[in-house]
Amino acid sequence: MAVHKLRSLPAVIFLLSAAVLAFPNPKQSTCGYKSCPATKPSMLNVHLVPHTHDDVGWLKTVDQYFYGGRNDIQHAGVQYILDSVVAELLKNPARRFIYVETAFFYRWWKQQDEDMRRIVTELVDEGRLEFINGGWCMSDEATTHYSAVIDQMTLGLRFLNETFGECGRPRVAWHIDPFGHAREHASMFAQMGYDGFFFGRLDYQDKESRMQKREMEMVWRASESLKPPMADLFTGVLPNGYNPPAGFCWDQSCSDEPVKDDPDLEDYNVDQLVDKFINISYTQAKTYKSNHIIMTMGSDFQYENANPWYKNMDKLIRYVNARQAKGSKVNVFYSTPSCYLQELNQADLTWPLKTDDFFPYADDAYDFWTGYFTSRPALKRYERISNSLLQTCNQLEVLGGPKSRKGPFGAGDSDTLKRAMAVAQHHDAVSGTEKQHVAYDYAKRLAIGWDHCQVLVKNSLAVLSGSDMTRVFCENLNISVCPLTENSKQFLMTVYNPLARPVSWSVHLPVNGTAYNITDSSSTVVDSQVIPVSKATQDLRRNQSYAQFELVFRVQAPALGFNTYTITVLQNDTDPFPPKSRVPPSIQNQYLKVNFDTDTGLLSGLTNLKTQQTIKLTQNFYWYNASVGNSESSQPSGAYIFRPSSSTPFIVNKKPEVTVLQNSVVQEVRQQFSSWVSQVVRLYAESRELELEWTVGPIPIGDGVGKEVITRLDTNIDTNGYFYTDSNGREILERRKDYRPTWNLNQSEPIAGNYYPINTRSFIKDGQNQLSVVTDRSQGISSIYNGSLEIMVHRRLLRDDYRGVGEPLSEPGEYNEGLSVRGRFLLALTSPESAADTHRPLGQERVFQPLLSFQQGATQSTTPQFSGLSAELPPSVHLLTLSQWNDDSVLLRLEHQYQSKESSEHSQPVTVNLQKLFSTLKVVGASEMSLGANQWKEDMKRMQWNPSSDNLVKPLHENMDDPSPWEITLNPMEIRTFLLQVHQK
Ligand SMILES: *[C@@H]1O[C@H](CO)[C@@H](O)[C@H](O)[C@H]1NC(C)=O
Ligand SMILES: *[C@@H]1O[C@H](CO)[C@@H](O)[C@H](O)[C@H]1NC(C)=O
Ligand SMILES: [Zn+2]
Repeated sequence: MAVHKLRSLPAVIFLLSAAVLAFPNPKQSTCGYKSCPATKPSMLNVHLVPHTHDDVGWLKTVDQYFYGGRNDIQHAGVQYILDSVVAELLKNPARRFIYVETAFFYRWWKQQDEDMRRIVTELVDEGRLEFINGGWCMSDEATTHYSAVIDQMTLGLRFLNETFGECGRPRVAWHIDPFGHAREHASMFAQMGYDGFFFGRLDYQDKESRMQKREMEMVWRASESLKPPMADLFTGVLPNGYNPPAGFCWDQSCSDEPVKDDPDLEDYNVDQLVDKFINISYTQAKTYKSNHIIMTMGSDFQYENANPWYKNMDKLIRYVNARQAKGSKVNVFYSTPSCYLQELNQADLTWPLKTDDFFPYADDAYDFWTGYFTSRPALKRYERISNSLLQTCNQLEVLGGPKSRKGPFGAGDSDTLKRAMAVAQHHDAVSGTEKQHVAYDYAKRLAIGWDHCQVLVKNSLAVLSGSDMTRVFCENLNISVCPLTENSKQFLMTVYNPLARPVSWSVHLPVNGTAYNITDSSSTVVDSQVIPVSKATQDLRRNQSYAQFELVFRVQAPALGFNTYTITVLQNDTDPFPPKSRVPPSIQNQYLKVNFDTDTGLLSGLTNLKTQQTIKLTQNFYWYNASVGNSESSQPSGAYIFRPSSSTPFIVNKKPEVTVLQNSVVQEVRQQFSSWVSQVVRLYAESRELELEWTVGPIPIGDGVGKEVITRLDTNIDTNGYFYTDSNGREILERRKDYRPTWNLNQSEPIAGNYYPINTRSFIKDGQNQLSVVTDRSQGISSIYNGSLEIMVHRRLLRDDYRGVGEPLSEPGEYNEGLSVRGRFLLALTSPESAADTHRPLGQERVFQPLLSFQQGATQSTTPQFSGLSAELPPSVHLLTLSQWNDDSVLLRLEHQYQSKESSEHSQPVTVNLQKLFSTLKVVGASEMSLGANQWKEDMKRMQWNPSSDNLVKPLHENMDDPSPWEITLNPMEIRTFLLQVHQK
């Protein structure tokens, strides 16, 4: 308690001085906590929160939702919602509204005239219209990567700040619909300066037990590395999801009875409604801790006609409060989530401490929302590589200067892709839970964003390399399609690396020739080999290319920079090494030995030759038979829900057809399991990891059975039911089969109820060995057997799962035969102690991957090699954001990419000098900001809360302070955001 008093003291002084300052100037804005309604300490205070939940695409595209187009699919038009709400707010100063999705508000604001903008600004300044959450969208939490989430929040929050200033800054995070909640999201919200967080969906058993224990509201300690309360976030579970209490929905789309208050008319119902409301209020209050409760008065796309809602709520408030004269102790009023939060904060209570996350989410015994972790795997991958391109685009916009946006290749920009990526983070976008036509719209937006960024990248590379020769990108290298490399006798390849440390990367280019000479920018010859294009690849690309071969070699690129390779065909018509059809007992390089079962052609073991660690490892592909409902429950598998008919999956093939290729650059064991499942087990000469490149699809459904395809790795690692998953690509969470850390689980779905999302990695370990899997997109994962890890890679289903999308998840693909998907896993075998040193950098390399571009002919550039950094950053530092902000300022985020205690080598605080970072930029000023870049760090003062059991805090290393204003220190898992004033050198 003493600690608490000390902590709260500065906050009190701050509030007082703010009030004093506000007093002499009546015109000063009264938004934020100052605008909150008066409450009655001796009563039960009911906060009515009028709100609308506007999906940034779901059954309709984001623009269809904005305009109210395609109302035949779903009646919803966001433009009318905002029109109507503004008009209704003006009628009564007590009325409140919150608005959440900046993607929509931005569209609406653009179309308003000066008068309307003035009116809205006044409503915002008075706290009557309040922005909550405020990102471009309400992101999905299971399938998003932290880098893209931070970007989409930044985009929305920046618009709000630039439009409304401090009164536009949201105080509360609001994820009322996402299907489970990630710990890393809570950590990010805390670091963005939010005072609290509310959500609607959590496991039904969890909710029940929280209601009983009055633990619906808690302090979420969202990081094991950041020093509390840096990643502590007050978190509240809303009582009715995000809907109004039963009987009190007064939207035009609802059919509850209005308040009929003229006794001269029929059906007078005021007394009855007031009784009912008071009853509901007391029932709700029983499961919450304070004498304040919140009610969400709204739902999906409601308030298109705000009048019925407000007219009836005005009356409800009047009549319920009138009862106070007769002794009622219920006090109801218009409010906002932040006003409710402020009351909880002032209540001086202690709150339970939460340290795990809210996955998986089930809303009933057979209804686990674990299918969407994998749904639409191609969209999930496209979203991920779009993020990589966006980061490259942002960086090159900064490094290339103004000519990047307008240069030899025309006008380019990063804004289009920024907005498309922000839309794609929505909880029905990258999650895969939208209708098919909406999925295509998300992809189209990204593709248009790519076009704009590619122009920018070409301009920037022209400036930086001194060559404005035509440059092309090959987006289909994953299926061996690239007209330039196939048809050129000589060409240049530029490799841009968006990481702040040098990388090497293996490249496969489709070619016709059988031998090539490759030199890097210092004219050093690079070893290369030509291998035949696999049958699986030929089947995928069809007539998009007829190149017979792939040219394979390893490239290096400097930190935040590029290297240029010259590739020339040699007159040599000797055929490349012919493939063999007998699998060898093992393949190996200097780091790894990979064993095969020579009988089946499957993997059988893995050895780390440096550490002499060895494990048994078998791997195969299986599919679960998707449920269409049964006697236990009618719930089928669908876009959201995973429900296998049986816990035993079907094996695709015990004995795949195998071809083997071995040369000095790469060894490939190509396994064909069936016409729709194949894989390349690939070991590069210089790689410490094993690559598994899988190709799955079109999933056959001719047998009338929906299929959920997994690959399973079975090892002799003694896991005891434990496995590990990342949270939005950052910190690691421990998972345990049939177990939840905060309640006694009654497991009703032995497979689906054990699935968790991963974004970049997962691992299993025992005392000696750790097998880490780094993936290239978000997926669902589980460990059902001891030593085993299974990853769902693709799904094709025949039923809708009754959660609104109204379509079975059966993606047609390019040829209308069912979608084929290709992806990669990287496998690393290490000791548990040194595992992070491998999987952390590998993970970042997959997310921030090199961008290849090609030019015909020989070099003409003056600068074939370039680094934007004066020196590479220390290995524990990740350059998360480098993006143009204004003409003379750039946004920089630096991140410590290790958890505390995760690595003996890298889990130490690390210092970076901001002035000495860039080779082309002089940094003349730096101001630190909140993670969302909408507040100066020095102004960031968050509410303090008392968690009930602070003993859970593990002792941390001492955080280190900055040695000087220019030298900033990053502690484990810390992200620091700076606005830098820069000049081009
Ligand atoms: C490569 O093959 C394609 C298709 O057969 C052909 O059009 C092209 O001319 C070939 N290019 C070279 C350099 O041989
Ligand atoms: C918020 O916007 C205002 C007005 O454009 C700007 O002056 C201010 O610097 C912004 N604040 C932050 C933290 O970016
Ligand atoms: Zn939603």
